[in-house]
Amino acid sequence: MSIWALADLHLAFSDPSKSMTAFGEGWSDYTNRIKKNWESVVKPDDLILIPGDISWAIKFEAALIDLNWINQLPGTKVILKGNHDYWWPSNKKLSEGLPQSIHFIHNTTMVWNGVAIGGTRLWETDEFSFEPYTIYLENPNQTNKSAEEIEKQKLQDKKTFEKELARLRENLSKLDPNAKTRIAMLHYPPIGADLKDSRVSKILEEFKINIAVFGHLHSLKKGVPMFGEKNGVRYAFASSDYLSFEPLLLV
Ligand SMILES: [Fe+2]
Ligand SMILES: [Fe+2]
Repeated sequence: MSIWALADLHLAFSDPSKSMTAFGEGWSDYTNRIKKNWESVVKPDDLILIPGDISWAIKFEAALIDLNWINQLPGTKVILKGNHDYWWPSNKKLSEGLPQSIHFIHNTTMVWNGVAIGGTRLWETDEFSFEPYTIYLENPNQTNKSAEEIEKQKLQDKKTFEKELARLRENLSKLDPNAKTRIAMLHYPPIGADLKDSRVSKILEEFKINIAVFGHLHSLKKGVPMFGEKNGVRYAFASSDYLSFEPLLLV
């Protein structure tokens, strides 16, 4: 019984105009590639973590088209909200409406076969930058912002990040202390690619996290070393395009 991860599926079955194929060759035929790779490695009694950016849908009812597609793939799934998951409803609605093989982490924790899982989305931070690792691509959906709007956004980002730090602490304090392995699901990277200490990495160490799994970054240069292990925490970067849409083995 293994644990896998694949973040940032960015499914668009409910709204094909949002398909990631607009982002170039790297994303061509991505849903078929996800399905084929997933089915070739994930067994029915495995667990697969999907830390954010799951569906482009705006409403839960529309996201269910994507979630049902995930449901028919092998394994038990655990989802966490990403910055693009606008469809994400209340915990009550999720508990009642998610397809049967999909569970969620949202101010909640769970235990699966002695492995404790928690986490939170995190947010933008200026503590580190991934610019040197990124291939510049024109974003077809980009809108230009004024200097004032950018400043306002930065302030808002800071506030959101602080809230997420508090949420992370609160969440990790609830992880089962008897678990043999402790996993934190995050959407945004918790640390820079060079593993220099960060505010989040300190919290992960404090709560004795073994694996931090995350995604969010796209269009990265391949073959450039990123992340790794530091002070007992393995930083598992699971963004789907970076992994060529192949699930990453965690445990
Ligand atoms: Fe994403
Ligand atoms: Fe994201």
